[in-house]
Amino acid sequence: MPVTPRHDPSSRGFASDNYAGVHPEILEAIAAANGGHQISYGEDAYTEHLQELFKSHFGPRAEVFPVFNGTGANVVALQAMTDRWQAVVCADSAHIHVDECGAPEKVAGLKLLTVPTPDGKLTPELIDRQAYGFDDEHRAQPAVVAITQSTELGTVYTPEEIRAIADHAHSLGMKLYIDGARLSNAAAHLGVPLAEFTTDAGVDVVSFGGTKNGLMLGECVVVLDPDAVRSVKYLRKAAMQLASKMRFISVQFEALLGTDLWLRNARHANAMAARLYEAVKDVEGLEIPRPVQANQVFAILPKDVTERLQKRFRFYTWNEHTGEVRWMTCFDTEERDIDEFAAAVAEELRSR
Ligand SMILES: Cc1ncc(COP(=O)(O)O)c(C=O)c1O
Repeated sequence: MPVTPRHDPSSRGFASDNYAGVHPEILEAIAAANGGHQISYGEDAYTEHLQELFKSHFGPRAEVFPVFNGTGANVVALQAMTDRWQAVVCADSAHIHVDECGAPEKVAGLKLLTVPTPDGKLTPELIDRQAYGFDDEHRAQPAVVAITQSTELGTVYTPEEIRAIADHAHSLGMKLYIDGARLSNAAAHLGVPLAEFTTDAGVDVVSFGGTKNGLMLGECVVVLDPDAVRSVKYLRKAAMQLASKMRFISVQFEALLGTDLWLRNARHANAMAARLYEAVKDVEGLEIPRPVQANQVFAILPKDVTERLQKRFRFYTWNEHTGEVRWMTCFDTEERDIDEFAAAVAEELRSR
């Protein structure tokens, strides 16, 4: 073997679902697509098949555009949905606002109009705090509502909540975009097909996340209403998101969505978060400030306890001021990881 592992393959933490490796079924799919030559830039047999596969999940009008990463999916989709003078209304906790180094503003050239929310979720009332000033040339024109499903705070919109947002956005002449980096986790929590809270709820464009759900890399821009966008194929290339060897991204989605792997992985990650919640919720000195619905558990801990725990396990502090931390589970989290970690949390809190 030319390369020996430089890390401990049995070591897992709670920092991010991006820390996980690649699901073995995905690695097998990549190997199956290897060998021989295929036309580059998406004209290969795997990408062609993906169109039908996404239609089977999202409906007959769906068009899919594989990209490298989630930031790229957001930038390409939002740029395709807006003109230079337009703006996107989003929660102030949205990844597009806090975690993309300004890419939507810099690369897509749009303005974000943010709204504080209690739980990461927008509502028609919250959208109205920014959706005003139509026809006023002094104000960037609100054109798109962007929500995240599941949210950055681990909460999940119901199909009815999304329908209410879509109806409201459309009544204002706006469109609805979902950042679906963790769309599978939301479907697993809701127990409904993907279309029920996207296409059937009136969403115009959604990104479908693969990386956090077992892929090596890859996300998709899924256009649900082709009239809501323009020139996605040119914008994807101009945003440097057009993979030349696209078959290797597409075949991963075939393995994920052509089987139940997407749901198996998401259900497992969610179940591990639920197990962690059950194991720590009654521990004295710890507060769980948010509902646990997808694959994230948020907790408020004394700072010294967090520091000691972080020496033993990887996880991030979410809010330095409140002491809130985020624990994230993945498709490869094992029950014993949870049990060991929960025991450590209790032990560190007891020993204060
Ligand atoms: C909600 C959400 N959207 C988008 C992304 C962006 O993904 P990437 O890091 O692949 O650009 C992330 C990544 O953490 C995310 O959590």
